[in-house]
Amino acid sequence: MNTDIQQFMWQPDARSFDGFAPLEQQLRFALQYAVLAPSNHNAQPWRFLVNGAAVQICADRTRALPVVDPFDRELLISCGAALFNLRVALSHFGLAYSITLFPSEADPDIVANLSVSRGGHHDVELARLFDAITARVTTRAPFVDEVISGALQMELVAACDAEGAIASCVEAYAAREAIAALIEQADHVQFADVRFRRELASWIHPRRRGDGMPAYGTVLGELLDLAAPAVTSVVRVFDLGAGAPPTHQRLVSGSPLLVGISTAQNNRESWLAAGQALERLLLVATRAGLSASYLNQPIEVGAMRESLQTLLQVDAVPQLLLRVGRGPRVDHAPRRPMSECVS
Ligand SMILES: Cc1cc2nc3c(=O)[nH]c(=O)nc-3n(C[C@H](O)[C@H](O)[C@H](O)COP(=O)(O)O)c2cc1C
Repeated sequence: MNTDIQQFMWQPDARSFDGFAPLEQQLRFALQYAVLAPSNHNAQPWRFLVNGAAVQICADRTRALPVVDPFDRELLISCGAALFNLRVALSHFGLAYSITLFPSEADPDIVANLSVSRGGHHDVELARLFDAITARVTTRAPFVDEVISGALQMELVAACDAEGAIASCVEAYAAREAIAALIEQADHVQFADVRFRRELASWIHPRRRGDGMPAYGTVLGELLDLAAPAVTSVVRVFDLGAGAPPTHQRLVSGSPLLVGISTAQNNRESWLAAGQALERLLLVATRAGLSASYLNQPIEVGAMRESLQTLLQVDAVPQLLLRVGRGPRVDHAPRRPMSECVS
């Protein structure tokens, strides 16, 4: 897809929102912001079926990642992040909404029904996060080695709490080092699995248009070369540029704050809540000039999840692990055209 279309997708003209248009048109306008949510491998595993002033938010399991995410856990987390962006956009445009989660036992792909109305409560706190939707970007580069203030950490914790998830902030060097060692181990397990590498390779292929991570396509050959399994962990962990292997010391010093997001249960409702909590936390961080990237390996390698739980000192199930800090400006990842995911 050409760069003009991508630039347009990341800069919808919010001023062209028509406050007098029918609700369906306004809802469709707000959906432009839902699709800017993060998703694993940028698979964008969502579909939006609009019917008048209501929309069904559906999981698109044709875009699943069966190796890294065999139970569609991260897929539903991604749908939760898209739902959160939609809530923020609707709140910004002064629209109220009501949501029913997993409304149909017969169709588990329907993640939520959302209806908009003009009257009623709209959330001012959410509206304040609107500008951060288009500014948020996953930043895998090393962050500045600086303290993230206690006040901001409390805001991140509150953001997750508001969505029913638990954020654990880890800043002590020794604790970050212990977690980094676990990440390194999990990374080796994943990269030793040829199915994992092939799945990742297909999502960074330079021929992809509108999804995946084609910017990382230059390491494709190394990814498919079984003799060099560690090289491409740059894609998943830490982007240090060519020739600088990501050691866990570099990971620790370039990640001033680690944040685990956990939930009390481990079911589809929790995954959706974790996704909404993730995006709320990311937007709060973005508003404060920070960015984040993901270190989910010890969660994806199921056998290591409990060790991570112990290191996070949390009595709940870890769903996501992030590094948060101040990094360089990086380009946005592509998005599919609206016509492909909204009908
Ligand atoms: C559930 C989930 C898991 C993710 N896991 C990883 C990961 O393991 N490594 C990584 O580098 N990025 C990960 N990402 C980030 C995506 O690659 C990123 O969101 C996507 O490429 C789109 O880019 P953007 O966030 O800059 O819009 C994850 C995102 C989500 C929502």
